[in-house]
Amino acid sequence: MSKYEDYNSASRNYDNQRFAMGSDVMAAMIQFHCGKPLKDLHVLDAGCGTGNYAKALIDYGVGQVTLLDASPGMLEKAKVKLADAIESGKIKEVVEATMPPIPFPDASFDAVMFNLVLHHIDTESSTEFPSVTHTLKEARRVTVSGGVILITTCLPTTISGDMWMTQLNMELSARFNRYNPSVEQFEKLFMAANISCVQKMNILGSSISKEYFNFEGPLDEAWRKTSSYWQLATETELEDIKRKITELKSKGELEKWARDHDNSDTAGVLTMFVCECK
Ligand SMILES: C[S@@+](CC[C@H](N)C(=O)[O-])C[C@H]1O[C@@H](n2cnc3c(N)ncnc32)[C@H](O)[C@@H]1O
Repeated sequence: MSKYEDYNSASRNYDNQRFAMGSDVMAAMIQFHCGKPLKDLHVLDAGCGTGNYAKALIDYGVGQVTLLDASPGMLEKAKVKLADAIESGKIKEVVEATMPPIPFPDASFDAVMFNLVLHHIDTESSTEFPSVTHTLKEARRVTVSGGVILITTCLPTTISGDMWMTQLNMELSARFNRYNPSVEQFEKLFMAANISCVQKMNILGSSISKEYFNFEGPLDEAWRKTSSYWQLATETELEDIKRKITELKSKGELEKWARDHDNSDTAGVLTMFVCECK
């Protein structure tokens, strides 16, 4: 369960802004690396939230999806969104659980996906990420041999260098980044979990969030509530960020500053790892 975000409360605003960015690539990767048609595959959406990725995969033709999340509030939203798929059996199960462990028998799934979840798993920041290691070992255990594990994440380099809003206060970004493994740390985690990373890619653009380019967004509590990043901000940092935005706006320089500090179009904000289970 996340240390710094209350997802039962966040569930009320989450879908106002968030998209299943990269779900099309994910569907293609699952089909290619499992070597079977999507309709024959069962995918675990681990940390499914409000079910945006599960819905997208079902729309692309995945046969069955199981939902797992620690937050009853997020799961309630998912159940409403996916009511038809639950009724038709395309959603096989909806499970409330805190990872690790992953409460399913060995080899239950063809694919397991973690979308923007792993930075919430370790409740104490640690360069070793012990709970993420345990969770990935569990993901390997519940995935069939020949299956895949997919991870989407925002890398520390993305947070510190490529997104305009996270450059408003670098101390806050450094604190958030302690929960985000780097590429090198992910490589060690994959090795510990005995899975083999076969693709690493960035998805260009900013469609992770509908109001990504709302330059006054950080002034608005509802806007801040759709990203856990803001929950780590101290009052002083928040005041500093608000002052910076207000000053830039009053000088007519806010948009230029933000665009000058944003590389979402050329570097992307979302990184995807595709791992095979031998
Ligand atoms: C940023 S949201 C991502 C939701 C969804 N995957 C998406 O991309 O839209 C993170 C989700 O992970 C869930 N979560 C956090 N820690 C968890 C844990 N230890 N076990 C299960 N779910 C967890 C939260 O409840 C939340 O729904």
